[in-house]
Amino acid sequence: MNEKRSSFSGNIGFILAAAGSAVGLGNLWRFPYLAAQYGGGIFLFVYLVLLFTFGFSLLILEIAIGRKTKVSSINAYGKLNKKFGWMGILSLLIPVLILPYYSVIGGWVIKYMTVFLTGQGKAAADSNYFGGFIGQTASPLFMFFLFVTLTTVVVGFGVEKGVERVSKFMMPVLILLTIGIAIFVATIPGAGEGIKYYLLPDFSKFSFKTLCAAMGQLFYSLSIAMGIMVAYGSYVKDDIDMNKSVTNIEIFDTLVAVLSGMMIVPAVYIFSGEEGLATGGAGLMFKTLPKVFDAMPMGNFIGGAFFVLVFLAALTSSISLMEAVVSMFMDKFKLTRIKAVLVIYVIVLALGVPSALGYGIWSHITVLGMDFLTFFDYISNSVMMPILAIGTCLLAGWFMNLKDIEDEITKNGEEFKRCGIFRVMIKYIAPVFLVIILVFYTLAQFGFISY
Ligand code: PFF
Repeated sequence: MNEKRSSFSGNIGFILAAAGSAVGLGNLWRFPYLAAQYGGGIFLFVYLVLLFTFGFSLLILEIAIGRKTKVSSINAYGKLNKKFGWMGILSLLIPVLILPYYSVIGGWVIKYMTVFLTGQGKAAADSNYFGGFIGQTASPLFMFFLFVTLTTVVVGFGVEKGVERVSKFMMPVLILLTIGIAIFVATIPGAGEGIKYYLLPDFSKFSFKTLCAAMGQLFYSLSIAMGIMVAYGSYVKDDIDMNKSVTNIEIFDTLVAVLSGMMIVPAVYIFSGEEGLATGGAGLMFKTLPKVFDAMPMGNFIGGAFFVLVFLAALTSSISLMEAVVSMFMDKFKLTRIKAVLVIYVIVLALGVPSALGYGIWSHITVLGMDFLTFFDYISNSVMMPILAIGTCLLAGWFMNLKDIEDEITKNGEEFKRCGIFRVMIKYIAPVFLVIILVFYTLAQFGFISY
């Protein structure tokens, strides 16, 4: 297959595309519900510490690996060291498992978008609305199908045209709207307690679970430990300042997540009290925000605009998930883009059906005690991604010359400000810490230990 490898146009093109991948449902949907569940301020605190140490190091490492090898992750690890070829397969499997269930949630977003745009926001504010919707058969399935199809169509057009165009105009508007909604929530009587819960770390609430959840969320949110950023790195031109780009992506991604929490967590406090924080789970955003919009003037309009933006953020991320898989299929199986896209479309549709039906007619079926969606989230985020991250650190830190990666980062004479942290993280702290997390979390999951 001799199709020319596409590349991003310049620094800004890359930052926007990578931020488009990073900012998605992870920030808007997943971060707030984990923060609510795992102690509020303490979760936020742990997350930020991990971000500036682990998150940064792994993100820049993956992009550097991509740019250095100029191939997608399926071949990149093996190209650096033959012993690590297996990681290529793992990095193919992870987005293949994530994309289907991600699209199910993307479908929920489409549903809420249409509900608000057609002026039915009041109905969605009812506490039973969300459960009623995901419990159905045809509706969640159809919305899921729609989301996957849209993603597939955009990916079919290729990296530059598809990703950059959508991400460029969306981000600033999303941030402004989120700030506006967060300010509105802060003015509702009773918000103070919720804001305190979210922003002030209470160290007595720290647990091993907080740490595991924050670490998984970090991978998820930055799109690392799954081949995406390696694929993006392979599209990055040699003259891009990676250090600067990564810092920008990091800040941008975290800003959206923190703002999203600021909008949702205090609102949960107001409408459902402390109990709502613990029990909200994956539906938190969908159950809480309609109540906020209902309390707002022009709620239908603002809610509609908000869900349109969430939809676009989810779409740019699902595009990046699919793009990563497409580029791997093209490299590995020598398929043309269009053939690769079609094969993946069918796989994603098939794998997503159980997650779409897992709260309705298939809710009686569980895997390891989890519904399908939770299971796919668990196996990819808490098992496979840590394994890939450990492998990446070992490869870069011990099985090749880490200096080669550092040289790749500073190729154009850029200053690598956090080089010291990077080196210690990749060689020592990250692999050890990740092994501990993986082992204990797995033991706990199967009931061998409690924590
Ligand atoms: N980082 C994006 C998000 O936070 O929504 C996309 C994404 C990456 C989703 C990795 C899921 C994932 F596991």
